Amino acid sequence: MSMDALKRQAAARALEHVRDGMKLGLGTGSTAKHFVELLGERVRDGLRVIGVPTSEATRADAERCGVPLATLDELDRLDLTVDGADEVDPQLNLIKGGGGALLREKIVAAASDRMIVIADDSKWVERLGRFPLPIEVVPFGLAATRRAITDVFAARGVSGALEVRKGRDGHAFVTDGGHWIVDAHLGAIPDAAALATSLVAIPGVVEHGLFIGLATTTVLAGPAGIRTVERP
Ligand code: A5P
Repeated sequence: MSMDALKRQAAARALEHVRDGMKLGLGTGSTAKHFVELLGERVRDGLRVIGVPTSEATRADAERCGVPLATLDELDRLDLTVDGADEVDPQLNLIKGGGGALLREKIVAAASDRMIVIADDSKWVERLGRFPLPIEVVPFGLAATRRAITDVFAARGVSGALEVRKGRDGHAFVTDGGHWIVDAHLGAIPDAAALATSLVAIPGVVEHGLFIGLATTTVLAGPAGIRTVERP
């Protein structure tokens, strides 16, 4: 079975948690896109939901699929967010932001009563860090911000190259919020919660891709079937 088919299976299983009348956070990425498409099919069959997209790409997908949308300001709290991830550990802490949407993804997840992460089972790791950690930064003063990030890494016992993410045009990738992303190649993060706290204290850092204590459930699809893991 292809990776894409596994992603769609995980998305379909998450859809079983959606109830009529729910306010939903709609994630970003290739797995979340399956969820939006399947949700659109249910909406066409009469399901009433309203979604908040976590990126302009997801907004376009949701509109194409006929999913009614609102802003987070209009809805305030959400019942459920369904989103993908780049890595998930046994505590359901995540690395996200491979698609560059981590800031809105985190705002939306934090405003939701529940967050279901959908993924193929290659995303499951014993320890976070193999996937480069995305850190969203303000372009102004980038050299100072990079230095501060490196200092935080040293204090938290991690190290690795920092790379400004490039877009397809070869220039710096610009997020939906108008910021840049620095990817940190750390290999392993022994204490993700401590690193998360230290990184957001740096003035030039807008957000980072460590999602600590936000996911409540993970649906992992693999060749042997689908596994659902609840946060311990
Ligand atoms: C988007 O910024 C990311 O957080 C995605 O949710 C994450 O990269 C997973 O994407 P895929 O489902 O495409 O692997």
